[in-house]
Amino acid sequence: MTADKDLVQSSYGACCLSPKFFDDFYDAFLASSSVIAGKFVNTDMAKQKRLLRDGISFMIMYFNGTAVGRMKVDKLGESHSQGRMDIKPQWYDLWVNALVKTIAKHDPKFSPVTDRAWRTVLAKGIEAMRSQYYA
Ligand code: HEM
Repeated sequence: MTADKDLVQSSYGACCLSPKFFDDFYDAFLASSSVIAGKFVNTDMAKQKRLLRDGISFMIMYFNGTAVGRMKVDKLGESHSQGRMDIKPQWYDLWVNALVKTIAKHDPKFSPVTDRAWRTVLAKGIEAMRSQYYA
């Protein structure tokens, strides 16, 4: 059985090779709620898509227990906290659902097992980010 981290790594590799992956993700995420769309009205989306490409890698590194992963996810938790960008803890569920839906479109090998593996990997970093909301 392939470990979650290997499945997610190869799935993410396939997504990153798919030219419209990040466009499709933000289309899906912004469509999930007008409150979410409102958070990005002044955002340079081309830049944001490049930043998220690394951001997702940091979530995977965090799951793998690396020091870089811990440092990067800690910084993300800080920037997304109440005192900074004020990203509400409940919004992460919309983020994960939009992401997994987009992965399903771009990873040709996507299956329910891939879906589960992504949710397991992301949950760990998201828990760390959410725990910093009031920090
Ligand atoms: C900025 C990643 C969840 C809204 C960023 C940046 C990264 C990132 C890498 C740019 C660096 C920074 O400003 O710290 C992630 C990851 C998430 C996540 C990996 C999930 C695990 C969310 C959610 C929202 C959100 C749920 C809800 C609206 C934003 C906004 C910005 C941002 C508004 C700033 C955009 C700007 O500069 O105008 N995020 N994010 N993020 N994120 Fe997230």
